[in-house]
Amino acid sequence: MLVNMKDLLLDAEQGNYAVGSFSVANMEMVLGVIKAAEELKAPIILQIAEVRLKQSPLELIGPLMVAAAKEAKVPVAVHFDHGKTFEKISQALDIGFTSVMFDGSHLPLDENIAETNRVIAKARKYGAAVEAEIGCVGGSEDGSEDIAINCTNPADAVRFENETGVDALAIAIGNAHGNYKSTPKLRFDILEEVDRITKTPLVLHGGTGITPDDFVRCSKTGIKKINIATATFDKVEQTVRSAYGNGAISGYYDLQGAEVEGAYQNAKKHILIFGTDNKA
Ligand code: 13P
Repeated sequence: MLVNMKDLLLDAEQGNYAVGSFSVANMEMVLGVIKAAEELKAPIILQIAEVRLKQSPLELIGPLMVAAAKEAKVPVAVHFDHGKTFEKISQALDIGFTSVMFDGSHLPLDENIAETNRVIAKARKYGAAVEAEIGCVGGSEDGSEDIAINCTNPADAVRFENETGVDALAIAIGNAHGNYKSTPKLRFDILEEVDRITKTPLVLHGGTGITPDDFVRCSKTGIKKINIATATFDKVEQTVRSAYGNGAISGYYDLQGAEVEGAYQNAKKHILIFGTDNKA
């Protein structure tokens, strides 16, 4: 069933776990992620980032994501990840996304607050949740930039929360999008401080490559949503490649099945690490 992201994060706060937010690029990934969620009775979030719309146009993939969420036997929120433009955020809301992110992390704090408030005013008309980001997560969603990590200043998080009332706040604690060159050393000192002085559910971006222990520690320290993108794309690609290697693909529908399987395996692995199974 299609649900508001705010409700999923509220449940996650009460249950002391984090919900997996899985990036998808096509129908096969949507099917694989939902299959894992249904099998494990897990609430999940399906998301797509604005930079990915050149491969997967929003007017096509958006209605597919919303329809799949409505059909699912578990609660599914549909989220617009790293919204950069008011135009695309509005389009996602019109399509029926139950959550949107405005990423103003590159802006001065004052401007980030002002623009986030503009998005919140719009999203409230649809009853949708809003995520924002302060500090700067490293890398970039599509690997086209190597943005330096700029850890969140806890005092900024308090100001941001007070001046926006945002529903979810992405923070930068040494995490980065894409594959890490070495195991990341997350700044748990910063996370603990932000968690201590704010009330907003926190979001961890750059989930690919973070260790299971760190995921669990984050989920017990205020992180209520964890974004996974690269791991899904890599697992789908590897599953297809090995199916070809094993001679398991002899036609298009075997290829399609391998894509669904890759997305399913990756979502299942992360749901079990996050401890979201049997929380639906
Ligand atoms: P990864 O690609 O590192 O999993 O990051 C996902 C993400 O944060 C999407 O916003």
